[in-house]
Amino acid sequence: MTELPRPASKPANPNFSSGPCAKRPGWTVQALAGTPVGRSHRAKIGKARLEEVITRTRAVLGIPDDYRIGIVPASDTGAVEMALWSLLGERGVDMMAWESFGEGWVTDVTKQLKLADVRVFRAPYGELPDLAQVDCDRDVVFTWNGTTGGARIPNGDWIKPDRKGLTICDATSAVFAMAMPWDKLDVVTWSWQKVLGGEGGHGMLVLSPRAVERLTTYKPAWPLPKIFRLTSGGKLAEGIFKGETINTPSMIAVEDQIDALKWAEQVGGLKALIARSEANLAAVQAWLDQSDWAENLAKDAKVRSCTSICLAIKAPFFAKLSDDDKAAAAKKIVSLLDKEGVAYDIGAYRDAPPGLRIWGGATVETADIQALLPWLDWAFAQVKAEFEPKVQ
Ligand SMILES: Cc1ncc(COP(=O)(O)O)c(C=O)c1O
Repeated sequence: MTELPRPASKPANPNFSSGPCAKRPGWTVQALAGTPVGRSHRAKIGKARLEEVITRTRAVLGIPDDYRIGIVPASDTGAVEMALWSLLGERGVDMMAWESFGEGWVTDVTKQLKLADVRVFRAPYGELPDLAQVDCDRDVVFTWNGTTGGARIPNGDWIKPDRKGLTICDATSAVFAMAMPWDKLDVVTWSWQKVLGGEGGHGMLVLSPRAVERLTTYKPAWPLPKIFRLTSGGKLAEGIFKGETINTPSMIAVEDQIDALKWAEQVGGLKALIARSEANLAAVQAWLDQSDWAENLAKDAKVRSCTSICLAIKAPFFAKLSDDDKAAAAKKIVSLLDKEGVAYDIGAYRDAPPGLRIWGGATVETADIQALLPWLDWAFAQVKAEFEPKVQ
């Protein structure tokens, strides 16, 4: 059979992109109506909005009172790079990379900062490096959820409570969908357009008291541009953690983040957000478990991401295709579903094995995931009909 019948219904919301991610259910542009547009972000009204993001973020995520939370420039990348440039170099660092973003941080540390004492632990897409190898008395840099590889860190058990190094965690596709062990994390970063479906442009930077201590007692040997500076005259720039941003934020993006946080509170807070995301993974996985052509790129159930759910194609003919044809076949599934208005932006990341990636973060309705699944079979049947004869 080459053509399966068209599934009866389509997802109400076809946005399954891994970033920017789907807006929260019911979002309209009216959510931004209260934005103090045309006003200074340093005016009382602007600063109050920025502080509100910080306060609501702390409450929803349960971030300890003695941790600082700042809104910083240049999205998650900006937040991670501020941390790397400001904190590293005091001692050796262990870097963990199992997909392209972690690999990017390795490049920063080895080729840009050119640190001398670096150990790199790598794993292929869909897997994690051996966490037991990490020495927590050195600094450690890692992503919590590998957005492009579909594997996440299952817990913080491998991080020593009495460590001497700092744990620097890029958690952009994890926070609000996964439990974060705050006591084990010294620096945590993310951006607004991920699990809560906010707008791009701004980064969040969370610092433990030990990270603050490093900032105020250690001065890197290299110069720091204004956009990365977290201290002034050897003291922490406390204003950054009270809504005094280094440069000008988008107040529309800020308003949208407040809306997203209010939605998070309304649906039941962090527990409910995690449950929504886990339900999305469970729906995809139940379908994968009976699929004869697709599987989770992450073979180990313990490390499967509930946000960036990566699918590999296991149909025997697919393995025999050339690399170009593999990529073309996977792209064809994506474009068929895009054309139908069933799913947008579900192609695997460009450096990942050819396949699909379905975002299952908290703003995605499980009913929409359920509605998408039969369409994957529908699209694959057409791709199989086109590509299988090439290798028969
Ligand atoms: C794990 C991870 N790190 C960093 C980034 C870059 O984030 P941003 O575009 O917010 O700078 C992404 C984006 O998808 C990501 O998934």
